[in-house]
Amino acid sequence: MTQYDGIYRQSIEDPENFWAAAAENIHWERRWDRVLDRRNDPLFRWFSGARLNTCFNALDRHVDAGRAEQPALIYDSPVTGTQRSISYRALRDETARFAGVLASRGIARGDRVIIYMPMVPEAIVAMLACARIGAVHSVVFGGFAANELATRIDDARPVAIVSASCGIEPGRIVAYKPLLDRAIDIASHKPDCCIVLQREQQTAELVRGRDIDWHDALEKADAVDCVTVDATDPLYILYTSGTTGQPKGIVRDNGGHAVALYWTMRDIYGVEPGEVFWAASDIGWIVGHSYIVYAPLLHGNTTVLYEGKPVGTPDAGAFWRVISEHKVACMFTAPTAFRAIRQQDPDGELIDRYNLSGFRSLFLAGERCDSNTLHWAEEKLQVPVIDHWWQTETGWAIAANCLGIGKLPVKAGSATRAVPGWGVTIMDADGTPAGSGTVGAIACTLPLPPGTLPGYWQADERYKATCLSRFPGYYETGDAGYIDADNYIYVMARTDDIINVAGHRLSTGAIEEVLAAHPDVAECAVVGVSDDLKGQLPVGLLVLKSGVKRQHADIVAESVQLVRDRVGPVAVFKKAAVVTRLPKTRSGKILRGTMRKIADGDEFQTPATIEDATTLDEVGAAFRTLGYAS
Ligand code: COA
Ligand code: AMP
Repeated sequence: MTQYDGIYRQSIEDPENFWAAAAENIHWERRWDRVLDRRNDPLFRWFSGARLNTCFNALDRHVDAGRAEQPALIYDSPVTGTQRSISYRALRDETARFAGVLASRGIARGDRVIIYMPMVPEAIVAMLACARIGAVHSVVFGGFAANELATRIDDARPVAIVSASCGIEPGRIVAYKPLLDRAIDIASHKPDCCIVLQREQQTAELVRGRDIDWHDALEKADAVDCVTVDATDPLYILYTSGTTGQPKGIVRDNGGHAVALYWTMRDIYGVEPGEVFWAASDIGWIVGHSYIVYAPLLHGNTTVLYEGKPVGTPDAGAFWRVISEHKVACMFTAPTAFRAIRQQDPDGELIDRYNLSGFRSLFLAGERCDSNTLHWAEEKLQVPVIDHWWQTETGWAIAANCLGIGKLPVKAGSATRAVPGWGVTIMDADGTPAGSGTVGAIACTLPLPPGTLPGYWQADERYKATCLSRFPGYYETGDAGYIDADNYIYVMARTDDIINVAGHRLSTGAIEEVLAAHPDVAECAVVGVSDDLKGQLPVGLLVLKSGVKRQHADIVAESVQLVRDRVGPVAVFKKAAVVTRLPKTRSGKILRGTMRKIADGDEFQTPATIEDATTLDEVGAAFRTLGYAS
């Protein structure tokens, strides 16, 4: 039996003692009454009755325990030519002052604060300051358009929004403030105030009476202390794509989150406190929340905040530069970043220019990792390359090769085994657990371990209907795959309309809703087509309203612009074609799965339920005009 086997078995047979032991690493103001609270089955809570503060655990306690001068955060921004190292003491002090800014506006425990910011240290300060006073933050990714921000404002109903004048993408400055103003115009809920960080690359005009300048406010603010909250109080809401245009607000609590994330740093990632950990993601995504901000800081590591890209800032050696300059021990990113690097530097020549001697492991997640990318990274970096699988909902990995508790052999295409705490089962078409090798829906045994979602923000029924109803006693992941005879988990595809574009999770349904709003479009379908660099790209087919005589190219161009304006550039929606009809079943269901196979040039069987098989020929021809279906 391996070390992993023993620990895994203990976590499943006696989860309460397993997580109670892990909880000893966290500073509690009051200990729990129950480790696992089953009173509201199927909604479970961890550490009920306990009280703590997440910001205290992430900053203050390390300052008190001798890490005051250790860098907590290294900000590395090739797009602005800036680097800044911020010690635990300095980060604690700035956070306490910014918490004072929020408190002076009457913001308190339970109030929501939206953070719409680029990858700057102030974004992390804002997140931790919310945690410090018990406010609930909701970070919105900068690549989303005003409409998406507005939807989140209406759902979270924030008292304040913290933003910045601009973000910097290679070759262009993204003015955030007009997007923020537009979102507030669109939303029915209005925040009391906006706190805006003016960046020197482009400042923004502030709205009198509503907007506050970050620096002015900080200068005048008094530092405030941590407010003790319940372990079960929400720490943040993070919206993620569902199958419709209405995103799901994933809630994370304070207690279980701190316990689980602390535990993952050593047991999964194999790092010790004090080491440098780098997640090359964005704070707007779950990877950024968990592994740029909370887990490394809770564990006393130094985290790297990188405002740049894997390529083009300035070249495909950027990752190696960051690893060597900041002595990164463990890195986490999405496979798409490595595909981008490999495309530009296939032989990995730029790697040799840097000293990577302190670099021990690379973790990949966010999308399926193709074996070419895995093998290329293994060969060029000569360190373990670990594919691991998780979701915004789970907050940390469901399946991984846990380096801290004994590395298992790597099998390309597999995220290895269930992480301690997780029961993973494949369900067949009837909803019965399937044997090894059978492909089916992947479900996880309830109760999920600590640090996972207690539910959706103010939408328990939607959570139950979406995730807990199909397989009673299980959480439905929305992913499909299989488990082999060695208990290795293979995640193959989504079972719903979610696609993964450059590691970013998007809903084809949300894009369809935007296209359907075009005045000339009668109906439409969007499918995720395979892409060598980004994994998948959304491609649309449009059916026009009868009598529309305009040029198809104009309608397509307008549709592309509409998605960019309403969803955001991150959707990378660039291709669409007009068809006379969409392939549908006799009951009217659009055959998106078949369309995707046609676009990818995969073999497919004409569904027996199809209303008119000739529609498939037209779909094939349309995809060929877009460069697919060959
Ligand atoms: N703010 C504003 N716009 C943004 C943005 C942000 N934070 N992030 C991306 N965008 C824009 C990009 O500028 C681009 O705009 P364009 O159409 O004008 O070129 C568009 O959104 C698409 O972005 P992206 O898909 O990221 O493409 P890219 O060509 O800029 O970069 C990769 C491609 C692969 C290098 C990049 O996607 C990457 O590094 N991915 C890693 C994924 C990741 O971190 N995932 C998180 C989970 S681990
Ligand atoms: P997100 O919530 O944005 O993190 O996206 C989660 C989804 O990304 C999962 O449900 C999977 O579909 C996909 N995903 C994440 N990691 C992996 C992985 N290692 N292998 C396969 N798919 C993955």
